[in-house]
Amino acid sequence: MRTVRFSDRLAQANDFAMAVEDQGQGKPIVLVHAFPLDHRVWQWQIRDLSARFRVLAPDLRGFGRSMVTSGVVTMEQMADDLASMLDALGVKEPIVLGGLSMGGYVAFQFVRRHRQRLAGLILCDTRATADSEEARENRLRTAERILNEGTSFLADQMLPRLCCERTFRHQPEVVEKLRTMILESPPEGVAAAARGMACRSDATDLLGQIDCPTLVLVGQFDAISPPEEMEQMARAMPKASFVIVPDAGHMAPLEQGQFVNQAIQDFLSCL
Ligand code: MLT
Repeated sequence: MRTVRFSDRLAQANDFAMAVEDQGQGKPIVLVHAFPLDHRVWQWQIRDLSARFRVLAPDLRGFGRSMVTSGVVTMEQMADDLASMLDALGVKEPIVLGGLSMGGYVAFQFVRRHRQRLAGLILCDTRATADSEEARENRLRTAERILNEGTSFLADQMLPRLCCERTFRHQPEVVEKLRTMILESPPEGVAAAARGMACRSDATDLLGQIDCPTLVLVGQFDAISPPEEMEQMARAMPKASFVIVPDAGHMAPLEQGQFVNQAIQDFLSCL
């Protein structure tokens, strides 16, 4: 894990320090984690894909070992942080950007703001739509509660929906790993990202314009971004292929690492 420093346009003060797992050499692949987690959700992809590619898996602003900004951290800000990270690392060639759930919301903003830096896109267990009014209000209430109580109630609330039943039965260590990540996430950072997700814009209008090769992946039993919704999203994108990950829920890359890695490698070999 290394730390990358760049000037912080959001806080307008000093530097921002972003922690990033940087493994391997070759075509750069940037993998962006879900909420309220960190780069470790990509552990199987970091381990295996780094044999052939340069895998960069950052902790987003407010998560893992990256610096925390309180208040609201928007998906736009997170996308700009990724671009600054690439600049700071001297990565000039176009990247393949992968986003899991909230990481996908960030990826849509990266498409809007840094399209020229993209060679391909991997959208995993995510959605293009914005929150409904009810979901938005719920998120804002959750953000307040996180600030008051910490993240342990969030772990209890979210875990049953993150993994499929089979993962709970046969891979309890995956569930425990996710619990650890949630408990280790700094409450201020988690609350700021929850507020940022609440005010994220709808990216449905963007789908038809995404002309880079795109892989859309979804867990067969994803209860948060279900396969039907993701298939519809893939159909709206001119160059997307759609893959269902068997025996996985919302955390497909962690629940079924081998299958997801094969799907990603097949996709990358066609670029
Ligand atoms: C995530 O996994 O990043 C979250 O489920 C996204 C969300 O709450 O919309």
